Amino acid sequence: MNMPNINDARKRTNNIIPIKRDDFIIPEEVKNIGKNKNYCILTYGCQMNVHDSENISAIIEEMGYNKIDNMDNANVIILNTCAIRENAHNKVMGMLGRIKHLKEKNPDIITAFCGCMAQEVGIANKLKDKYPWVDIVMGTHNFHKLPIYLKNTISTNKQQLEVYSKEGDVIECLPVKRDSKYKAWVNIMYGCDKFCTYCIVPYTRGKQRSRLPDDIINEVKELVKNNYKEVTLLGQNVNAYGKDLNINYNMANLLEDVALTNIPRIRFVTSHPWDFTSDMIDIIAKYDNIMPYIHLPLQSGSTKILNKMGRRYTKEEYIKLFKEIKNKIPNCSITTDIIVGFPGETKKDFKDTIDIVNELKFDLAYTFIYSPREGTPASIMKDNVSVEEKKERLATLNELINKYANLNNQKYKDKIVQVLIEGQSEKGNMLMGYTDTMKLVNIKAPEKYIGKIVNVKITDIKTWSMDGVIIDD
Ligand code: 5AD
Ligand code: SF4
Repeated sequence: MNMPNINDARKRTNNIIPIKRDDFIIPEEVKNIGKNKNYCILTYGCQMNVHDSENISAIIEEMGYNKIDNMDNANVIILNTCAIRENAHNKVMGMLGRIKHLKEKNPDIITAFCGCMAQEVGIANKLKDKYPWVDIVMGTHNFHKLPIYLKNTISTNKQQLEVYSKEGDVIECLPVKRDSKYKAWVNIMYGCDKFCTYCIVPYTRGKQRSRLPDDIINEVKELVKNNYKEVTLLGQNVNAYGKDLNINYNMANLLEDVALTNIPRIRFVTSHPWDFTSDMIDIIAKYDNIMPYIHLPLQSGSTKILNKMGRRYTKEEYIKLFKEIKNKIPNCSITTDIIVGFPGETKKDFKDTIDIVNELKFDLAYTFIYSPREGTPASIMKDNVSVEEKKERLATLNELINKYANLNNQKYKDKIVQVLIEGQSEKGNMLMGYTDTMKLVNIKAPEKYIGKIVNVKITDIKTWSMDGVIIDD
């Protein structure tokens, strides 16, 4: 048993990060234990978790398990959890209740709990003391040891709880089972060193560790060979890519090298305004296969609150960066994240946020009420704004965000855009895909178009999507 520790999670040293190329094994005893058995994986949270689940799926499938979507018939249920806000927590705890019920009917079901929540001291303690029936608890640094934990669970019938609070390493030998045949997530870095005062990620995911450029480029080249059409380069703070490597190679260099692989579409998330350089903007403008779409979290429009959040930029600096992007990449769509109700946010601070939204007219924004996370500096800041007031601010902000989302979409009416068709739409009888600028388009078209980038004429505009027709073959 190994429990997480917040003080260790906070530590940062200058130690060189080990790259592990042979750290994944499947013990002989469990090599085929999944034959004729099913597993189900439930994923919460960000794209990083979605991609971790693709690794976990490949690992468990190497033991013979077959993936199913419905946990009622699963022999192994894996919960890949998110700790970013309280509501993500609540969803997972609710799901544990349902799994307990299934396990009472069938005690042979094996339950594994992983992801960012497992890295939290309070949660790990709770799982140990109050949920001993959860068979495996593993953190973000060691999910690749799932085969060993499965073996130990089966042989001892005791809870396997192993969570490390460490800076972390880079593991290059993991198998992956991608959810899509056309779009791929590619990690370029792990962890985060920014320590924004509200955010739990630097504690749950460790120190910033960039993968080596060659490992990334080779992965993308392999995807090109396998006919992938799009890669999204993933990291908590991708603009800081390479800073920890000391090899004089940065995100602009990486974007250029990935562009030169000729993969048709490149995206990257998530950016931090602090490290977003003019060189990067120039490279995005230069290469047609780097998509004109940037997610650029603002968090607040008030310089005072940004300062309390530890964001390292002022409202004016954000606006300057936004305008430089729009000037150099005129068709670029820009989306953002905004938190309302941060401790000490006054009516005037909130108005600053409203003003900047009115000025910049984001294509879309993900908006949140501030949620205190234990162990973060903001969680002990004095907070005197009532819950009702926070909810009102969120509603006011959302109304404005929706207005600009719709107005931005209106510009697409009757335009011809390129769409990568991904599959069936949730709306029956239609296919769906995204434009280069990340607008969702629903199209009535035959299935033969799935996996292709096609020209589409936009016929109808909604707030969250558009309808269109294919105009060439
Ligand atoms: N409370 C509310 N929102 C948060 N985010 C991160 N931490 C918190 C928190 N404690 C939001 C930020 C971030 C997005 C992924 O989640 O806006 O950009
Ligand atoms: Fe959290 Fe800030 Fe790091 Fe983003 S940059 S993961 S918000 S600490």
